[in-house]
Amino acid sequence: MQIQETLVQEARRILQANDRGGFTIPTAGLYPFQWLWDAGFTALGWMQFDEARAWAEFDLLFQGQWENGMLPHIVFHRPEPTYFPGPERWGVKRTPPTSAITQPPVVATFVRWMLEQAQNQALAQEKVRQLYPKILAYHRWFKRERDPQNTGLVTVLHPWETGADNSPAWDEALARVQVDPALPPYTRRDTTHVDPSQRPHQAEYDRFLTLLEVYKRADFDQLRLLQEGPFRVASLLIDCVLHRANHDLLWLSQRFGFGHEGEIAGWLEASRQGIEGLWDEAAGLYFNRDLLTGEPIRVGVSASFLPLYAGTASPERAGRLHETLQGWARQVRYLVPSTDPQSPRFEPQRYWRGPVWAVVNYLIALGFAEYGYPQVAERIRQDTLKLCEVTGFSEYFHPQTGQGLGGGAFSWTAAIYLAWSRLGGGEAS
Ligand code: GLC
Repeated sequence: MQIQETLVQEARRILQANDRGGFTIPTAGLYPFQWLWDAGFTALGWMQFDEARAWAEFDLLFQGQWENGMLPHIVFHRPEPTYFPGPERWGVKRTPPTSAITQPPVVATFVRWMLEQAQNQALAQEKVRQLYPKILAYHRWFKRERDPQNTGLVTVLHPWETGADNSPAWDEALARVQVDPALPPYTRRDTTHVDPSQRPHQAEYDRFLTLLEVYKRADFDQLRLLQEGPFRVASLLIDCVLHRANHDLLWLSQRFGFGHEGEIAGWLEASRQGIEGLWDEAAGLYFNRDLLTGEPIRVGVSASFLPLYAGTASPERAGRLHETLQGWARQVRYLVPSTDPQSPRFEPQRYWRGPVWAVVNYLIALGFAEYGYPQVAERIRQDTLKLCEVTGFSEYFHPQTGQGLGGGAFSWTAAIYLAWSRLGGGEAS
């Protein structure tokens, strides 16, 4: 109980120290700008002790929104030399400058949760009215520019869009990308902040940057990239997060009388079928899909459980997922490793290839709780709190030893601690 109080104070201090006047950086040095899905989790953290500040996170995030509705994955509010690739490399001529790709669209869901939690209802309702049309424009962009054939699955153009940059799920699709022989030279900055054994390999980085140049040359023309992009996948992280976000957008539309229920319900029907089409009966898991080959990507990753969070899975499939997770739990001390620990690609210390991420845990646990598996949901919550208590608010954690990995004093990990220790009514540790 005492540890917990101290940690709550510490988590608040991390958000305050990472606050840059209305937006929160993930961590100093390694990630010194505002990231899209980090902003959602971070806002939820702020919500536990400063509601006005929590809503400000979204005001600043949407300063980066493009006229076509796209919400970029990074908003470069002010220059910072410690990060690469920064605004010069992206070459997007906007104020504030931004990247040109997106990330898991968590915002609508977090806005709903924040409205439901708000003590200051007048402020919350005013913010919902301001944010709703912007979120709708963002979701319409997804439909229009990333699923124009109405397949129910969004096309993802860059591993960075999935939030899980170097997941083994992208290995083959990324290996197919020919490194641009004329790739402008660059110096990685990430490996000056973090031990390289915990970061993506150089071969992956060259391809991440090659994709950036390809998209720049196409002037970020989405419909053209859907035809020609050298990397095209369906990502469970994006599709499941978007499905739930649309569900929550529909709820907001109904509640405030915005009148878009019919349009959103159409998207939901398509994405429910799209996501359920990713189920693999033999594996008892959902798999991402390579859209260039049309083939499932047969590697279990933490996102494989997210159809529970989306709410699209049948009770039978939820039961299979539960069994699959029990199998993973026998291999590691802490849930949920980002890659199936029995996979030959599992690397327990390397970024999205094995470590535990608090934010993904939050989504998975919620899914299990909603499908009637409170015990596993509670186990995931306890594991996450324990990791923070033992090793601090790291970016990610070793699933066997619990070692904190990547950046330290990390905003979204602190935010999850705040949100989850509140749920425990003070009895979390
Ligand atoms: C890394 C993560 C991504 C996150 C960003 C900022 O790129 O892979 O998911 O949003 O860092 O924390």
